[in-house]
Amino acid sequence: MSQATTEKSLYAEHIAARQRTTEAALAATKFDALLISSGAPFTYFVDDMDAPLHETPHFAHWVPLRGPHHLLLIRPGHKPRLVRYCPEDYWYEQGPLPENFWVDDFDFHEARTREEAWKLVASAGRVAYIGDEADAARAAGIADTACNHAELTARLDWERSFKSAYEIGCMEEAEKIASWGHRAALAAFDKGASELEIHHAYLTAVGCTEADLPYGTIIAHDEKGAILHYTGKRTQKNGRVLLIDAGAKYLGYASDITRTWTRKDCDPTFRALVKGLDKLQLELCERVTPGLPYPELHRAAHILIGELLRELEVLKISGEEAFSLGLTRPFFPHGLGHFLGIQVHDVSGRQAEPKGGVAPPPSHSPFLRTTRTIAEHQVFTIEPGVYFIEMLLREHRAGPHSAAIDWKLVERLAPFGGVRIEDNVLVTASGHRNLTRSHI
Ligand code: GLY
Ligand code: MN
Ligand code: MN
Repeated sequence: MSQATTEKSLYAEHIAARQRTTEAALAATKFDALLISSGAPFTYFVDDMDAPLHETPHFAHWVPLRGPHHLLLIRPGHKPRLVRYCPEDYWYEQGPLPENFWVDDFDFHEARTREEAWKLVASAGRVAYIGDEADAARAAGIADTACNHAELTARLDWERSFKSAYEIGCMEEAEKIASWGHRAALAAFDKGASELEIHHAYLTAVGCTEADLPYGTIIAHDEKGAILHYTGKRTQKNGRVLLIDAGAKYLGYASDITRTWTRKDCDPTFRALVKGLDKLQLELCERVTPGLPYPELHRAAHILIGELLRELEVLKISGEEAFSLGLTRPFFPHGLGHFLGIQVHDVSGRQAEPKGGVAPPPSHSPFLRTTRTIAEHQVFTIEPGVYFIEMLLREHRAGPHSAAIDWKLVERLAPFGGVRIEDNVLVTASGHRNLTRSHI
């Protein structure tokens, strides 16, 4: 079977599953139909410039049709109706429907105006709406209480955390594409390229604009690696460390990959830290198994990081002890990972149950985005990190456990910033499949 045939048949299964899960969510919330819009452009304040459109994720879950104001109507027992908004417009390109594998799965229409599009999705009964065009929904007679209904949205979000075979295929493509960028970035780093040059090398290899990436690249030399979401792009060359966190998209699905590379003239202890964290990251991936609460994996990451820091003599006490005294937190101040899919920080990582509610993170890790129990078909990141962040270390210098840290060594390592290793992991029936490591 050709790749195109496989994609088409997997997509048909994906749509059938969406139909089933949406019908169940509508029944549970007593609606007769669901209308989703692809979204309206966000125009900057007192400006006439729009931000790049992020299509409504619930829409993107059904169809990889890009652009604003498209509408999708789902009714139990009916083929989903897709209305493509394609105005006559000489300011922006409005091409014909691109070659695709998905249109046959819809009752497909095109509309020249938004009014015409909304007329085509008029539906009897209690209609729910998801999207950011609530004014248009209201004008179409949809009740306020049916717009972005909390329980209905929560039920659909919950389902989004279990990826179909079609989605996994898309995510694997996104891994492969990002790996081209990561390889080009490493080659540029090895030649002494600046952060800005590495960014350009990444985009060229991935073959897209920055707006087409799932998030702005984080490309940090040396001390900037300690800024978790560093977006600057300096022009100085010859960094001794490169921390690159960059992904790619395929049909709306994201990858989110971090690698840390060092040059030979980097401090040997920092190089050992990178090597140790890489090994530790793989060990954490090996622990992924259905039934394990993700916060336990996050806790294990703290203890392993504590052990690694003791081996390298940054800490003078055991990992367990360091974690219980709060001494691993300044070095690892973010969550171990997050769900991944259409959104980079995909929905429902903290959802308590299908109908909604929040499962809060443990008090020691308020930034942990994933508090769910690990289950088959979830995809999430595993991204431990160790950083030298002065604002977090400061309170411990004079604190009661100051003697547990080798501050001289901390000073020596701080100019190298930090290390993070991030892979994307699919949960299988008995363990995991690492979607990233086969590529980079
Ligand atoms: N790239 C952002 C993150 O890793 O969460
Ligand atoms: Mn991530
Ligand atoms: Mn990342």
